[in-house]
Amino acid sequence: MKISQKTIKRLRKNYGEWVLITGATSGIGRELAIKFGEAGFKLVITGRREKQLKKLSTQLFDDYGTESIPIQGDLSNRKDIDTLLREIDHLKIGIAILNAGFGTSGKFINSDIEQEMNMLELNCKTVLIMAHYFANKMKKQSKKGAIVFLSSMVAFQGVPNAANYAATKAYVQSLSEALALELKNEGIDVLAAAPGPVASGFADRANMKMDMSLRSEDIGVPIIQAIGRKSTILPGILTKVLVYNLRMTPRWGKIRIMGKVMGGFTKHQIN
Ligand SMILES: NC(=O)c1ccc[n+]([C@@H]2O[C@H](COP(=O)([O-])OP(=O)(O)OC[C@H]3O[C@@H](n4cnc5c(N)ncnc54)[C@H](OP(=O)(O)O)[C@@H]3O)[C@@H](O)[C@H]2O)c1
Repeated sequence: MKISQKTIKRLRKNYGEWVLITGATSGIGRELAIKFGEAGFKLVITGRREKQLKKLSTQLFDDYGTESIPIQGDLSNRKDIDTLLREIDHLKIGIAILNAGFGTSGKFINSDIEQEMNMLELNCKTVLIMAHYFANKMKKQSKKGAIVFLSSMVAFQGVPNAANYAATKAYVQSLSEALALELKNEGIDVLAAAPGPVASGFADRANMKMDMSLRSEDIGVPIIQAIGRKSTILPGILTKVLVYNLRMTPRWGKIRIMGKVMGGFTKHQIN
């Protein structure tokens, strides 16, 4: 799937040519980078794994002649966030995709608290710092901009067996929904992309075995086409089916159902 010419024209007209994607070394971020690169946008791409980052930058140039700036760093670390923001400060970033994140799963009581706090840093605090930076930066730009948050299907209720991960994404979803209204007055568009299970590096790191996963290729273009059009997107048919089917279920019921789903994704941990 490619981004339609109409969307490319609209995005360029509204936001200019520079796109930043955090967490572009694999999965959803990598797919978004390839699609934007194919469409002729200039990119800033980030991740901790320098080799994968440089490989992607070379691939973007070889395949599409796309200019990209790879910036390596651990974004759960304030120093690396500040370095990244300093290095891109001279660029008119029109679309900022705050994608870098990870999950954990299993019984909360058995969790590694250092890892849980690190996830809170990356999924919430880093996203907060970067959203604040881009809101202020984009406000001053003539073309303004768009901020895209990576929420999740788990953001809409508590999820037993992934309690802290779901809570981090509830934070992201809530922040994004509020900013979509608040920043509209500044000419800045905000989108929360809330996918269901996607086959990527995510499941391995989260120690989940996810059924019926979508591919990153299924959701990259739908997310891009929704920028400036929607405030939340549930990309992929499976995500829509799961979320819409639970719409009429009371919140306590959703928590139990999602707990069962996550119980299935993590049952190998107790076997
Ligand atoms: N896959 C799913 O089922 C799913 C569903 C809903 C939402 N999401 C969300 O989508 C986003 C992307 O996940 P994904 O599925 O594409 O997973 P992924 O393949 O594991 O990609 C995660 C990306 O984030 C980067 N990252 C992780 N920790 C980082 C750190 N400390 N500092 C800087 N970069 C870091 C990784 O790069 P390095 O390893 O090189 O640092 C990688 O590029 C995440 O926010 C995730 O929560 C995923």
